[in-house]
Amino acid sequence: MAVEQRDPSSNANFQELVVTHVDIVWNVNFEQKKIGGSSRLYIKALKATKQLVLDGQGLNLKSIKSEGKHLEFSLTKNSIFGETIHIEMDPIEPGQERTVDFEYESGQNASALQFLGKEFTKDQKEPFLFSQCQAVYCRSILPCMDTPAVKHTYSAKVSVPSHLTCLMSAVSGDKTVSGDRAVFEFKQSVPIPIYLLAIVVGHLEKRDISDRCAVWAEPSLVDSAAYEFADTEKMLKTAEDLAGPYVWGRYDLVVLPPSFPFGGMENPCLTFVTPSLIAGDRSLASVIAHEIAHSWTGNLVTNANWEHFWLNEGFTVFLERKIMGRLYGEKVRQFQAVCGWEDHMLPCIHEAFGPTHPYTQLITNLENADPEDSYSEIPYEKGSAFLMYIEQQIGSNERFEEFLRAYLQKFKYQSISTQDWRDFLYEFFADEKEILDKIDFETWLRQPGIPPNKPKYDETLIEACRNLAKQWTSSADVNSITCDGFSAMSSEEKTKVLQCIRAECPLPEQKIKCLAETYKLDKSPNCEILFAYTEIICKSRWLEGLPVALRFITTYGRLKYLKPLFKDLFAWPAARNKAIEQFNKNVPVMHPISVHVIKRMLETEGKK
Ligand code: BES
Ligand code: ZN
Repeated sequence: MAVEQRDPSSNANFQELVVTHVDIVWNVNFEQKKIGGSSRLYIKALKATKQLVLDGQGLNLKSIKSEGKHLEFSLTKNSIFGETIHIEMDPIEPGQERTVDFEYESGQNASALQFLGKEFTKDQKEPFLFSQCQAVYCRSILPCMDTPAVKHTYSAKVSVPSHLTCLMSAVSGDKTVSGDRAVFEFKQSVPIPIYLLAIVVGHLEKRDISDRCAVWAEPSLVDSAAYEFADTEKMLKTAEDLAGPYVWGRYDLVVLPPSFPFGGMENPCLTFVTPSLIAGDRSLASVIAHEIAHSWTGNLVTNANWEHFWLNEGFTVFLERKIMGRLYGEKVRQFQAVCGWEDHMLPCIHEAFGPTHPYTQLITNLENADPEDSYSEIPYEKGSAFLMYIEQQIGSNERFEEFLRAYLQKFKYQSISTQDWRDFLYEFFADEKEILDKIDFETWLRQPGIPPNKPKYDETLIEACRNLAKQWTSSADVNSITCDGFSAMSSEEKTKVLQCIRAECPLPEQKIKCLAETYKLDKSPNCEILFAYTEIICKSRWLEGLPVALRFITTYGRLKYLKPLFKDLFAWPAARNKAIEQFNKNVPVMHPISVHVIKRMLETEGKK
């Protein structure tokens, strides 16, 4: 394997030394909103060196020792994000191993953490804490090699108030109570990249789904969560069928407060999810299929740096849709794929970035860049479309699935670059070299804008959605819209109808009003439907609908929604000040990552 030797988002000297294991001892302090304690890094030299260089951000480093001896260290501030920690050590030879001990505390407002007062939780009884380390925030809670190129195991002992539960991205062990504190123990025995380190502390209850799956949530939510995610074991089995054995032991879910900036996060053994997935009818389960898929694509085979992020997300969307296809039929898979192309990839290229923007390339250049700025639907949708296109060129879904299994087998427990994948593709399909040679890899991977080819999609399910949307967009008179069928559609089909309408916006006020009333859109429990409707409001600048949009950005913390909505609201003169006002009001309960992203949007906007 060609080991990717650089990571523009980390300054750690992982070319010289690697971390093989970390032992963590933490104390969670809700009063000071800090995590503090110690960690022991087990390191192994690849080259002779006298330096250990780690990533950090705002950490209060109290001491660094190795085998009892104090080590000198200094910090330099990085130009984009965080600090570099330079540690002087006794010389170490290739192959030699050593331990280094750190005592530290997380800083004020550590970017990986959100501490929430009890009033901001569902049950309003106890405070809550959760972490979000992907992509580069782990460095704000412990000194580490914050690069996905390095993988290691970890163990942890965490002290929290005794009436709360602590969970981590690992298998839980003993719990010991003494006085008003409880110590929870964890072990992750599969090597992971550090961005998968995760912790959650709160008033949590558990419902078992199967022998290896359970749902955790605040007491008043836990039963509806268990109902919503009841298909988890079935999905996990289907994923194993497609991808190979599940190596992580448990697959649990934990429902976080609404400020969690993602739909789901694939923390090993414990996927984190937004409460907005609880729609009451299991209609948002594809997010769970996605996070399950990451157990292979991302967590087992990992992108070597964030420039190759499509290896994580593009493969995961591809596998997610394979799972959905196995469970609900190939037509459903095809439907989801074409929606991905039309409603997620195209708007991202045309509206969010513009067709020549380098962040619309599958492989990005992150030299001197904040990985947060490059985050978009591109790696997800352009990436999965590329795999689907290759599958169709090969001409057999079965053979491509064999390839996928062989790829996962070959690169499991490793971190790889796009070139590693491409070399293995040629190796596996050695007998199909002529077909592969005709694929325009360079344009797909390195050029911005719309991909050079479009996969062929079965459009059976999408036709009815398009037809219904057309009635709304093309009729001169709302009274002439006769075709209903909406209520009989699945939530995903309903979303697609609205997405088709959105693509034709602005729409006249009368029409939106009638659309909203006919389909009771602002009452939808499905956040995708509500989001598509909110976008119709914003794109049409329908003033009467503005309260719906302002409520949406306050209720749902997912960045996937916040980014496009804030962008539209800031550009809409009659809404702009209200949106800024709403944002400023929400800051105290918003996630630090979301605050950072929206602030940056306002700043860069001013520079245009
Ligand atoms: N791993 C991602 C979330 C992520 C990516 C966090 C990059 C930080 C940096 C997760 O698996 C994800 O993709 N979540 C999606 C949902 C999914 C169904 C597309 C989301 O939150 O929108
Ligand atoms: Zn993902």
